[in-house]
Formats: sequence, C-alpha cells, structure tokens
Amino acid sequence: MTDVPARSATTFDRTAVRRALLDWYDAEARVLPWRIGPAERRAGVRPDPYRVWLSEVMLQQTTTPHATPYFLSFTKRWPTVSDLAATPDADLMAAWAGLGYYARARNLLACARAVADEHSGVFPDTEAGLRGLPGVGAYTAAAVAAIAFDQAANVVDGNVERVMARLFAVETPLPAAKPELARRAAELVSDDRPGDWAQALMDLGATVCRPKSPLCDRCPLTAFCAGLATGAPETYPRKTAKAARPRRHGVAYVLTQGDRVVLVRRPPKGLLGGMLGLPTTDWRSEPWSEAEAKAAAPAKADWRYVGEIEHVFTHFALGLKVMRAEGDWSHGEWTAPAGLDGLPSVFLKAARLGLATDLFS
Ligand code: ADE
Repeated sequence: MTDVPARSATTFDRTAVRRALLDWYDAEARVLPWRIGPAERRAGVRPDPYRVWLSEVMLQQTTTPHATPYFLSFTKRWPTVSDLAATPDADLMAAWAGLGYYARARNLLACARAVADEHSGVFPDTEAGLRGLPGVGAYTAAAVAAIAFDQAANVVDGNVERVMARLFAVETPLPAAKPELARRAAELVSDDRPGDWAQALMDLGATVCRPKSPLCDRCPLTAFCAGLATGAPETYPRKTAKAARPRRHGVAYVLTQGDRVVLVRRPPKGLLGGMLGLPTTDWRSEPWSEAEAKAAAPAKADWRYVGEIEHVFTHFALGLKVMRAEGDWSHGEWTAPAGLDGLPSVFLKAARLGLATDLFS
C-alpha cells in the first residue's frame, strides 16, 4: 500500500468506479471451478444455477481453497440438483464432514429436495423465488440471482462490506454499519453485467482489499477510495470491541478393539447434529478433571488420559481432553480406521490423538 495516489473528496464517479472494477475483473478474474469467467460469459455461456447455489452454500462456510475439493467431489458424485436430492441424509452428511456447521448440510438437502420435488428440478430464477426455498437466506438468494441469472441483486457478504467501508471511509462500526454498507453497495449495482459485478467485488475483497494487509498498489479503485485517502485503509471497517469467544471443556473417548474404534451418532438437533462422532461428555464451562473424565466414561475400561485437542467453533472454543482404552461396549458403531475420514474435524483430531498413543508402552 505504498505509492498510491490519495483521492480528493470530489472524484467519486459511480460509472467510473464500475468501469474500473469490471475492467480489472476482465483481466484478473480468478479461475474457479464453479465460475463462468468474464470471457465465457460474454460468449454467451450461462452458469448452471445448481453449481452456483452449491458453491455459495459451501463458501459461506469456508475459504475458496478449502471449498474447492468438496465442490469438485460433490458435483462429480451429484451432477444435478435432482441427483443430490435423491441422496440419503447420512451419505450427504458424511460427504459434508470437514466443512463444519452441519445445519447447512441439512438445509442443503432440504433445498435440493424442494427444487427437485416442487420445481421440477429447476431453480427459481428470481431473488424472491429463491428466497422461498428452505435454507436460502438473503445472501444466497442475491448471489444466485446475480451470478446464475444476471439479475441486478445486491450481493453483500463480509468481503463486500469491507470494500464499501474502505471505499467510503464509513466511520460507523460493524455491526451497526451493516445497513449503510448494504446501501452503499446497492448504489453501485446496475443492470449491466450484475453477475460479473458481484464476483468482481468478491474477488477484490478476497485478493486485494484483504482484511489485514490490503494490497492497495494493485487496486483498481485507489482513485476513488476515501479509506485510502485517510492513510489507514486497513483500519476499516471499524468494529466495536468483541466479547471474547467463550471457552468450553469436554472429554472424548477413544475406545478401541484392535484397530476398530467405537463411534456414536449424535442427536439430530444441535451442534454436529446427526453426525457420527466419538462418545463425549457434555461440553461445559469448567474443565474436567481426570477422575471426572474416568467416572463419566461410556464403558468400563482402563482409561488413560492421552492429551487435549483444541477446536474453534463459531460461537465457542472447545478444549477436548482425550481418553483412550481398549475394551468392549455393546452400544455404538465399531468402525475401521478408514471410516474415521468422514468424521467432523473435531472428532478426527481427537481420534488421531487417541490412536497415536501406544497403550502398552
Ligand atoms: N465467495 C463467495 N462466493 C464466491 C464466488 N462465487 N466466487 C468467489 N468467491 C466467493
């Protein structure tokens, strides 16, 4: 962010801003497996709404590099929304493992089934129609309407909020600034290339107007950026001090018989609902002592404490003590090592730690 011209307060020109960003997108658009790039679009290639919707749901959950292999394997296994709709819940949940926030996977399936059953396998082509699908919120509806159907929808995610906060040097802190940032973004939307516009803003936010160290010397909007003119664009968006993420504590049990591990299915509702996992205690605010951990174990066995893993969920951080024993238990599902790959990350980490411990040394 050196050697870039500061803007004067009078240079903001909506048309020029749009042209600068779309020109930049034409030259710099990321190649992404769900994307129809600007040249292809110009040649008349239309995106598949199913792929756009699926990618948007995944990208609300994680970063582009992490989502990519999931997107590729999902679309290979389920090439159409009707294929996805026909999938048993457990298969979808296992394929989603590692993406986190499993309520999204349940919503994904509910939405696919609604499109297949109630819309003959064809996604509605308006923002309002998309909003009527289960689990499709304002962001996803706008993103699919813009990207798949080239409608002038206002697509506002965290990246777009950051770009707007900087471009207009918005002093109101988040989250109170959200309506103003959305209004600013809406003023820049037009009927000209709305799908490319939405994706251009996303790319700018992800690759140039980055959260911590923006690359202003590569930005096509420097001449218009009020945040840059302040000399400290990285300090936008302003934020109100956040309460620390609460911390919880639990114990996970790795009970083995030879190379098999016992897993249990979690209740359908709540965090990681419906997923297979290791047996655990409650996740509470006080740490568990080793004696408590032994007393709470699911089966009688010679339990050993082997260590603790950390996992950060959206609303809390979890310290999970891991206990390991060899033994028998008539509940749960005895699973071979390969079956552990489909576990949510938190259990995979705990299982790996437990299994790395040699009980007999
Ligand atoms: N982030 C969210 N949606 C995206 C998209 N369609 N392309 C790139 N990054 C994104």
